[in-house]
Amino acid sequence: MNPRHIAIIMDGNGRWAKARNKDRTFGHLEGSKNVRRIALAANKMNIEALTLYAFSTENWARPKAEVSYLMKLPKIFLDEYLQELMENNVKIETIGHMEGLPKATIAVFDYAKKQTENNTGLILNFALNYGSKNEIVEAVNLALADGVTNITTTDIESRLMTHHLPAIDLCIRTSGEQRLSNFLLWQLAYSELYFTEAAWPDFDQSELEKAVAWYQGRQRRFGGL
Ligand code: IPE
Ligand code: IPE
Ligand code: MG
Repeated sequence: MNPRHIAIIMDGNGRWAKARNKDRTFGHLEGSKNVRRIALAANKMNIEALTLYAFSTENWARPKAEVSYLMKLPKIFLDEYLQELMENNVKIETIGHMEGLPKATIAVFDYAKKQTENNTGLILNFALNYGSKNEIVEAVNLALADGVTNITTTDIESRLMTHHLPAIDLCIRTSGEQRLSNFLLWQLAYSELYFTEAAWPDFDQSELEKAVAWYQGRQRRFGGL
């Protein structure tokens, strides 16, 4: 069976660029081109949702110039590819604290979300200014504010930013690192975890197919036998 929902920690843009004697921002630009490739490929494979870690709450610690480029990248990306994504029935969504982003960045996402809101193909979900520990704490606080006294896992799950999406079947991290870096800690409880040495700009359709084939070879037991 195909995974319904894939999450990807798109890592290695900087190292990919450095290996080519280029600026880290060049790696981010190439990485954004790859978002198009992988989104279209996932859409063709009938994957329901693709959640991409694009900017973590910890990434604000990077040099100002890099952060500022990363904040401009969504506009460059959407100016170039929104129409094509639209034609392919892709629906754009986001998780994370959008209100913490620059106004112009918020505006391009608002526009893309509005344009694609009735599309029924792949949900292309960008995690921006996203941090998982904080998301869980907020879910608990929302439950408390709703007057819930004995908080259950369902009370939390239904208040996570991913509450409307299918469970994540497969999480991919590119570029060799084997950690979650505060990404979807709750949601990945029973996901299959796939790590590859390929840097994000090099993670092409055949790499995605390889990851999905690997996933299909897993036996998921969910604690049973
Ligand atoms: C991932 O690539 C993109 C973001 C975190 C925004 P990196 O920028 O982390 O690239 P490396 O890990 O330094 O190579
Ligand atoms: C995780 O990558 C965040 C994104 C891919 C957006 P990082 O490169 O920020 O993670 P660490 O710092 O290596 O853990
Ligand atoms: Mg990194």
